[in-house]
Amino acid sequence: MHMDLNAIQTQISAELSQVASKQELENLRVKYLGRKGLLADLTSAIPGLPPEQRGAFGKEVNAFKGRLLVWLAEKEKSFGQAAHNLEKQPKVDIGMPGIAQELGHRHPITQIIAQICSIFTRMGFAVVFGPEVETEYNNFTGLNIPLEHPSRDAFDTFYLKDRARQLLRSHTSPVQVRVMKAYKPPLAVVVPGRVYRPDAVDASHLFMFHQIEGFLVDKNIRFSDLKGMLEFFARSVFGQKIKMRFRPHFFPFTEPSVEVDISCIMCQGAGCSVCGHKGWLEILGAGMIHPNVFTQVGYGPKAYTGFAFGMGIERIAMLKYGINDIRLFFGNDLRFLKQF
Ligand code: DAH
Repeated sequence: MHMDLNAIQTQISAELSQVASKQELENLRVKYLGRKGLLADLTSAIPGLPPEQRGAFGKEVNAFKGRLLVWLAEKEKSFGQAAHNLEKQPKVDIGMPGIAQELGHRHPITQIIAQICSIFTRMGFAVVFGPEVETEYNNFTGLNIPLEHPSRDAFDTFYLKDRARQLLRSHTSPVQVRVMKAYKPPLAVVVPGRVYRPDAVDASHLFMFHQIEGFLVDKNIRFSDLKGMLEFFARSVFGQKIKMRFRPHFFPFTEPSVEVDISCIMCQGAGCSVCGHKGWLEILGAGMIHPNVFTQVGYGPKAYTGFAFGMGIERIAMLKYGINDIRLFFGNDLRFLKQF
């Protein structure tokens, strides 16, 4: 038996090129390499050959089998590769709407704090921060707030359970004490930060809000210096046209003390629902630093004079933007926050 292995090879390579699935490849393998396949037929024909031909033919069949195995393996590999490539491809649905990359921005309270701080830094003030957990001394005693003062009551201040004489600061004024104990005048400082009071939450009260404290200490500082700087501040925030007025008031840490109003930014002073038909809006408390505070910080009562002021940031922001509910600032509602 002398078969034309070359012809068979040509046929197999044609058949292989037609193979489109693993199953078809398997069928081909069985057809040629299976127990009843072509290779088996060729091998079993060897013993029937004349002895002098057996060796050469056997070698030819073996070489042929080797080639066939390589072809089949290559074809199989190409299937694996194709399947693998398909899996690796990202599944893209080009009809799907995209995900918009939105830019965030600073919270309105943070923006107002930055704006107010920059107004004062332009006048030479430094920005200083103090801790929200304060000592009873810095929050009250150092500021000349007497032991019997109602703001010291547990109904008006959060005292810490496990830390004697410590509390959540109820205003930013204690940073006056910290700074004055650490540095000698001249001093001009603003202090933004969070403060805490156990108030029931409603449209104008929260248990946490923000204040900015400011103070300036040197020789020969007068009430007119305070007036001028506050006027510059208020006009920068609320517009050049506003009027200001100073009403006598009482704070333990200033003498004399005032509350400061601006003409209503809604009605320009005519009277409306925003200003309660008064024509004026209260924006802050201020005064000349009390000699007892200077004594507490070790300056001596007569060595220096200075002024201090304190304001609620949320209140300023509410007036500036016409917001009627303080809770909106902390509701994390993007419909509200995106407006600033
Ligand atoms: N600490 C005051 C408060 O929380 C605000 C204040 C008033 C601060 C007058 C001052 C000041 O520095 O002079 O109500």
